[in-house]
Amino acid sequence: MRLYGTQSIINNHLHIGGVSTKDLARTYGTPLYIMDEEEMRSRTRLFRENFIHERIETEVIYASKAFMTKAMAKLIKEENLSLDVVSGGELFTALAAGFPAEKIFFHGNNKSLEELVYAVHSGVGTIILDNEDEAERLRGILEEREKKQRVILRVNPGIEAHTHEYISTTKNDSKFGLSIFSADTVDLIKTLDADPVFDFRGIHCHIGSQIFEEESYFKAVEEMLGYVGNLKEKGIAIRELNLGGGFGVSYEEKDTPMVYENFLKALLEHVAGISEQMDLLPLKVLIEPGRAIVANAGTTLYEVGGTKTTYGGKKYVFVDGSMADHIRTVLYDATYTACLADRMEDPQEEVYTVTGKACESGDILVREAHLPVPEKGNLLAVFSTGAYHYSMASNYNRLRKPPVIFVRSGKSKVVVKRETYEDLIRNDQMEEY
Ligand code: LLP
Repeated sequence: MRLYGTQSIINNHLHIGGVSTKDLARTYGTPLYIMDEEEMRSRTRLFRENFIHERIETEVIYASKAFMTKAMAKLIKEENLSLDVVSGGELFTALAAGFPAEKIFFHGNNKSLEELVYAVHSGVGTIILDNEDEAERLRGILEEREKKQRVILRVNPGIEAHTHEYISTTKNDSKFGLSIFSADTVDLIKTLDADPVFDFRGIHCHIGSQIFEEESYFKAVEEMLGYVGNLKEKGIAIRELNLGGGFGVSYEEKDTPMVYENFLKALLEHVAGISEQMDLLPLKVLIEPGRAIVANAGTTLYEVGGTKTTYGGKKYVFVDGSMADHIRTVLYDATYTACLADRMEDPQEEVYTVTGKACESGDILVREAHLPVPEKGNLLAVFSTGAYHYSMASNYNRLRKPPVIFVRSGKSKVVVKRETYEDLIRNDQMEEY
């Protein structure tokens, strides 16, 4: 079985960050999101240290939608990355953690007036505009002040990356950004560039998520730089090219994501080669990894409640979590690796479907888990759940969201407390009309 980050097996038990998962279950209960702090930090460094080029300025922005808590914002600040937020809620979390507003990039395809006012008044460094309506809303806010607001426009270069339809964002019918093939987009860029309230910096694209093909990125670079060249001919200087995130990770042994170190260098070399040839420098290049920073750092720990073999012969193992804390399997047909954390070296005898407590047949966490025959009380771990798990968790069936624990160097700490029943009814009202 492939282990990630600081995961290790000691006395048949899974350890993460030098802490036994059995101890974690005893201390904090289950289900439990465990985040390997060292692994997250080393991923941030991997991006920061390899996304550099002698002739091109660069910036790495963590896409906080993958996993965001105050402790995570603090970690990203300490590791000196910038931060991408997509809502007032993510922005609030970042600011509450003391993240510098200047290093925040505010994304989203329909930012409300309230969110834009909040961003501007908090001093958010860059706002990535998605469309003309947003630009209008923002202009209205900015008219009353002296300082220009840095903005970037999200465009769609029409690249098709091979990934699940819901997480592929740049096909021509995507809801995000404006097409580089539409004349209206150039008109908007001209307006933004000429408007004194904006400091128009450049263009952004994000071609999808969980992408393995380096080619898709090279193609995006070519399309985007071609567009930068067209804009230059029209007298518009593009100073920032943001290529988004989407760098794929391994969920199962068969997955073969790109080797980031090599890929990041090759990507910048590609940008440098083309932009030198087209005379587009100076140009700053930005990327926004989310999943690649946190996915493999996360492990969800559950307790086994029992097993069931159906009349049809299907074998289920029941755990004390559900699709409410693990939605990606049913939503995207995502695949995962599971193991019994307290029986790591026992032979894998059977194939089980891991299911939870939610009242829904689609409540499947892992479709095919190769496990020793599980016993009640065993601990079941699902690997690579650091991205889009806690951040996509819900309270379906009024299930309480699990706590998030950071582990590092033999120690553990709570970064999000387990929800209580009180938390569930905190906003409920029983007033009369
Ligand atoms: N930048 C932009 C503008 C994005 O829209 C996204 C992700 C990212 C960066 C980060 O992408 P990453 O490096 O994490 O792939 N819930 C889905 C993923 C949705 C991604 C949305 N945008 C999932 O669980 O697979």
